Amino acid sequence: MRLTHGTTKSLTANVPLLALLVDSVRAKELPGGALGAKAVSLMRKGVFSGKPGKTLVLHADEKGGPRALLLIGMGKLADVTDADYRHAGMIVGREAAALDLSKVTVATAGKLSFDKTSLGACASGLVLSTYQYPLKKAEHAALASATIVSSIKGAAAVMNDAKGVAEGTNLARELGDLPSNIADPTYLRDVAAKICSKGKMGFKAHNTKALQRMKMGGILAVGQGSAKESYLIEMDYKPAGYTHTLCIVGKGLTFDSGGISIKPSGGMEEMRYDMCGAAATIGLMAAIARTRPKGVRVIGIVGAAENMPSSTAYRPGDVVTTGSGKTIEVINTDAEGRVVLADALHLATLKKPEAIIDMATLTGAIVVALGHEAAGMFCRDERLSKRLLGASERTSEKLWPMPTYDSYSDMVKSRWADVRNSAGREGGSCTAAAFLFSFTEGVPHAHLDVAGAAWEMKTRQGMPPGARGFGVRLLHDAVVNWGR
Ligand code: BES
Ligand code: MN
Ligand code: ZN
Repeated sequence: MRLTHGTTKSLTANVPLLALLVDSVRAKELPGGALGAKAVSLMRKGVFSGKPGKTLVLHADEKGGPRALLLIGMGKLADVTDADYRHAGMIVGREAAALDLSKVTVATAGKLSFDKTSLGACASGLVLSTYQYPLKKAEHAALASATIVSSIKGAAAVMNDAKGVAEGTNLARELGDLPSNIADPTYLRDVAAKICSKGKMGFKAHNTKALQRMKMGGILAVGQGSAKESYLIEMDYKPAGYTHTLCIVGKGLTFDSGGISIKPSGGMEEMRYDMCGAAATIGLMAAIARTRPKGVRVIGIVGAAENMPSSTAYRPGDVVTTGSGKTIEVINTDAEGRVVLADALHLATLKKPEAIIDMATLTGAIVVALGHEAAGMFCRDERLSKRLLGASERTSEKLWPMPTYDSYSDMVKSRWADVRNSAGREGGSCTAAAFLFSFTEGVPHAHLDVAGAAWEMKTRQGMPPGARGFGVRLLHDAVVNWGR
C-alpha cells in the first residue's frame, strides 16, 4: 500500500473518500465541505454518536470536495488509546475496500489530533487492513493508497516505520494462514532467504545433513517421521557499530499431528498454525530489514519441522541427545515444540547474546489459562521482563507474566535422561517453560507462549479470523528501545 502524509489542504480536495476520526463530543465544525456540514447536523440530531467503532458514510451530490465522507467514532477524548487509532485505521481500510474505493484521505476531527504514537498506530491499522489471504480471491480489492493528514514533525518517518512493521505483521499472518502443504519447512526457509538477501542480512539454513553434523538430535528426532526436511534457519541483522546482540527464536512446526502420540482429529487442521512463532520471527526480521534500527544486532532463529506419525517417527520412551549434549526422554511425541526449541535455543546461546526471546505455540494449557487475549510470558530475568512488559504496554500486544518457580524445573527431571519432555497436564505451560530454560542456562531468556495469541477463529479489534502476526510489533518495539 502507498502511504503518504498530507496537509490540511487535502481536506478540501476532490478526493474519492475522506475519513474522519471523531470523538463522541458533538463537533461544531468538521472538514469536508458540504459533507462535513451535513455530518455535523447529523451528529447534532444524534444520528451518529461518535461512540467507539461506530461509522457513518455520506455521499456527495454536489461537485467539488470529497466524493464521500466516512466518520469513525472514537469515543470519549480522555479514553482514546493508540489501540483505538490502530482499530480505526483498520476500519477505514475495510470500509474503503467495501465501497470499492482504492484511495482514502484520513484525518482527525473534533477535539482529536495525532501525536507520534497515535499516527503510527493509525498508519499501522491501515496497512493491516490490506492483508488478504492469498489462496482465495477476496470480495473487494484492498485499499491501495492512503494519505494521513498530520502536521506533526517527523510524520513521514513515523508512518514509514509503522508501515514496515505492519507489513512484517501481514507477512507473519500470511505464513500462519497458509496450509501445511504449501508453507512447509522448505517454504519457510525460502521466504527467510529472500528477506535476508533483499534486506542485506546474513542467512543460513542448516538442513538434515548439517543438523546431523551439529548433533542437533532434538529437531532431527521430531522431523524424522516426516518426508519433509527439517531446518534450523538463521537470519542475521548486523548494523555497523552495534553494541547489543539479541536472539529471537521461533517454533516452526509447519504441521503438528502429535506424531505417535497422535492428536484427536477434531480441530487438527488448526495445527497448521503451529509455526506462528516462526512466522512472527520471520515477520520481525522483515520489519527490521525495512526500519533498520541502530545499535542492536538481531539474530532470528527458526526451528522448522513437521511432526508426523510414521514408521520412522520418534517414539515415546526414546532418549535423544540434543546439540547441547543434554539428553531428553520423550514421554509424549506431541510435546515436540520444546524438543525442537532445545536445539534452536542452544544455537542461540552459541551466539553469546545479551538476551534470548522465544515465541512458540507451545501449549494448549496457555490457551485454557489466558484465552486469545494475551501471550504468557515466562522470564526469570527481571530486566528483560520489564523491557518486554514496556513494549507490550506501548504496542498493545498483550503479555501476561507467568510463574517460573524452581519446582517446575524439578518436575521435568527424568530418571532416564537429563530432562523429560512432559510432566503431565498440571501446570503444563509452566513445566514446558522450565524445560526450555534448561537449554539457556546463564543467558537472560524470555519465553512467550503464543498458542492463544497467535491465531483465533474470531474477529478481534477489526482483525478477521486467522493468524494475528502476534509478536512482530511487540518485539520490533523492544528492539528499537533496547539501547535506550
Ligand atoms: N502445538 C501444541 C500446542 C497447542 C495446542 C497450541 C492447541 C495451540 C492449540 C503443542 O505441540 C502440544 O501439542 N502441546 C501439548 C503438550 C502435552 C503433550 C504435554 C499440549 O498442550 O497438549
Ligand atoms: Mn504438539
Ligand atoms: Zn506443537
